[in-house]
Amino acid sequence: MKDFPSPEVRRLLRELEEFGKAHDAREPRQARRMLNLEPATAQLISILARSSRARRVLEIGTSNGYSTLWLAASIVPRGGLVTSIDRSAEKQQMARENLARVGLSTYVDFRCGEATEVISMLGGPFDFVLFDADRTSATAQLDRLLPKLAPAAVLLADNVLSHPVEIADYLAAIESLPHLQHVVVPIGKGLSVAFCQANSAEAGL
Ligand SMILES: C[S@@+](CC[C@H](N)C(=O)[O-])C[C@H]1O[C@@H](n2cnc3c(N)ncnc32)[C@H](O)[C@@H]1O
Repeated sequence: MKDFPSPEVRRLLRELEEFGKAHDAREPRQARRMLNLEPATAQLISILARSSRARRVLEIGTSNGYSTLWLAASIVPRGGLVTSIDRSAEKQQMARENLARVGLSTYVDFRCGEATEVISMLGGPFDFVLFDADRTSATAQLDRLLPKLAPAAVLLADNVLSHPVEIADYLAAIESLPHLQHVVVPIGKGLSVAFCQANSAEAGL
C-alpha cells in the first residue's frame, strides 16, 4: 500500500484488524464477533471496486465497518455511496463511529435489519455488491437483488472455501445467471467473484 488508502485510513484499518482479532479470540458468541474480512481479501475487493469504477455499492454484513471502510475509501473519488446492511444495531453503531473518525460516514447509508427484507426496500441500481452476512440466506438476497442490479455489476461473496456447504446454493444461483463470468479466488476464506452483464449493448460495453 503506497498512495491508497490515505495514511489516516490505513492507520484505522490496522487498528480495526488488531481489535477484531483480539476481540474475536476472547468472544465465545459467534453473533457478537466482528468476523472481519481477511486483510488480503479486503485489499482485493478494494482493487476490484476502484478498477471497475464502482459507484453504487451494496454491502451485506457491515459488522463494525472494516470492509465498509475499505469500500467507502474506494468509491470517494467518484462521489459514490455504499449502502451497508446489518441486523446488529450495536455493531452498525460501531461502524458509524469508525467511519466518522476518518470523515467517511457521509459516503455510507447504514441500514439495520434482516438483509433479505432490507434489500426488498432498496431502490438500486447497484454496480458492486459484497455478500458477507449469513451464507444460507444469500440466495434469497440475490434473488431480490437481481432486478436492482446495474446493467454491468460485480458480485462478490466471501467464505466460499471456509463454508462450502452453506454457500453452495448461492454459487449454483450465480452460475445459472446469463451473461456471467465467474471465478472463485483462493484468497482468505475464498472469494467468489462474478461479473454480470445484462446484455452487452445495454451495458455499453
Ligand atoms: C462476517 S460479518 C461481516 C464482516 C464485515 N463485512 C467486515 O469485513 O468487517 C457478518 C455480519 O452480518 C450480519 N448478518 C448475518 N446475517 C445477517 C442477515 N441475515 N441480515 C442482516 N445481517 C446479517 C452479522 O450481524 C455480522 O455483523
